[in-house]
Amino acid sequence: MKAPRRVSGFGSRESGFGVSGTVASPIPNPQSLIPDGIGIRGKPVIDVTNLRKKFGDNEALKGISFAVRPGEVYGLLGPNGAGKSTTIGILCGLVKPDAGEARLNGIDIAQRPVDARRVLGVVPQEVALYTEFSARDNLKFFGRLYGLSGADLDARIDRVLERVSLSDRAKEPIEGYSGGMLRRLNIAAGLVHDPKVVLMDEPTVGLDPQTRASILDLVRTIASGGAAVVYTTHYLDEAERLCDRLGIIDHGAILVEGTLQQLREAAGAREIIALRGDFKTDAVTRELQQHPEYELLKASDAELLLTVQRADQHLAGILAIAGSLGSVREVAIRQPSLESLFIKMTGRELRE
Ligand SMILES: Nc1ncnc2c1ncn2[C@@H]1O[C@H](COP(=O)(O)OP(=O)(O)OP(=O)(O)O)[C@@H](O)[C@H]1O
Ligand SMILES: [Mg+2]
Repeated sequence: MKAPRRVSGFGSRESGFGVSGTVASPIPNPQSLIPDGIGIRGKPVIDVTNLRKKFGDNEALKGISFAVRPGEVYGLLGPNGAGKSTTIGILCGLVKPDAGEARLNGIDIAQRPVDARRVLGVVPQEVALYTEFSARDNLKFFGRLYGLSGADLDARIDRVLERVSLSDRAKEPIEGYSGGMLRRLNIAAGLVHDPKVVLMDEPTVGLDPQTRASILDLVRTIASGGAAVVYTTHYLDEAERLCDRLGIIDHGAILVEGTLQQLREAAGAREIIALRGDFKTDAVTRELQQHPEYELLKASDAELLLTVQRADQHLAGILAIAGSLGSVREVAIRQPSLESLFIKMTGRELRE
């Protein structure tokens, strides 16, 4: 069989990014899926130490370390070009690190790639499937790559098709699939062999809210079954809802890591005030900095971002300053969340 061909125009580097692409539609029923850490157990099966990688002069990874235990979903949350896919690439042995070590189930990937990959299921950022084959035949191909065959493989394919809700369309060529169906099949292809370690690189980019929600449920189910999952995303709401632990990654470094609760505590219970309009950046910055109760996260001619303890008490004062040194067209107050920590750590909003 020839190598899997990429389905073009879907899940490419560009899709889902850029000014309009980073804002996801809200997921329905946005309650947390995290079951209070129950079920996370044993030693890490993913263990990454001080990974470094340069592409030419571009330092894509500047020393990445993290570990993930069975039953745990570890999120790598970061914007475009942060180093998420490079990290995933090293973990599946496709990208060679300049330094550092990545172990799967205790086995060093660089030294014993074939053995290390035995436990691995990968859902790549770019969809890689045979367009002229059916879903079932695609899954057969991937199952055989992992050494499965016969009735065992057929049973696993039935199960995984059910999980991604494609059972009733499994026999037709996938040429006629929608983007969301291709994404779901791409996920199934990484799961058909029930891997202990699952790497998912932005699996929900470009999908509608319902499909995103069902994929998040699926990821949780995989973890409940004992797999260790690395899940990369640039959607804050997904990270908050799904991940037992998170690393915020930017410019090739994990800036902060912890459970959602730890990260929220690090952010402090401060509300965010966002102003858009026309500002004289230097003057307005100088004036706002006279007030220690305002924490200025970002100031540009078009936008001001601040955090305060109580937005209701400080909004009028901030508006007076901003209004006297420019014009305010839009005001938004956002409740404390991972977002304030993200902005604090990276100096930018994820939705930029
Ligand atoms: N094969 C490559 N050749 C050259 N540069 C690369 C290559 N792969 C990644 N890079 C660079 O390394 C940096 C990290 O890229 P990476 O793809 O890991 O980011 P990412 O976090 O996955 O971003 P995105 O959210 O856009 O998928 C970027 O500056 C990127 O341009
Ligand atoms: Mg990527």
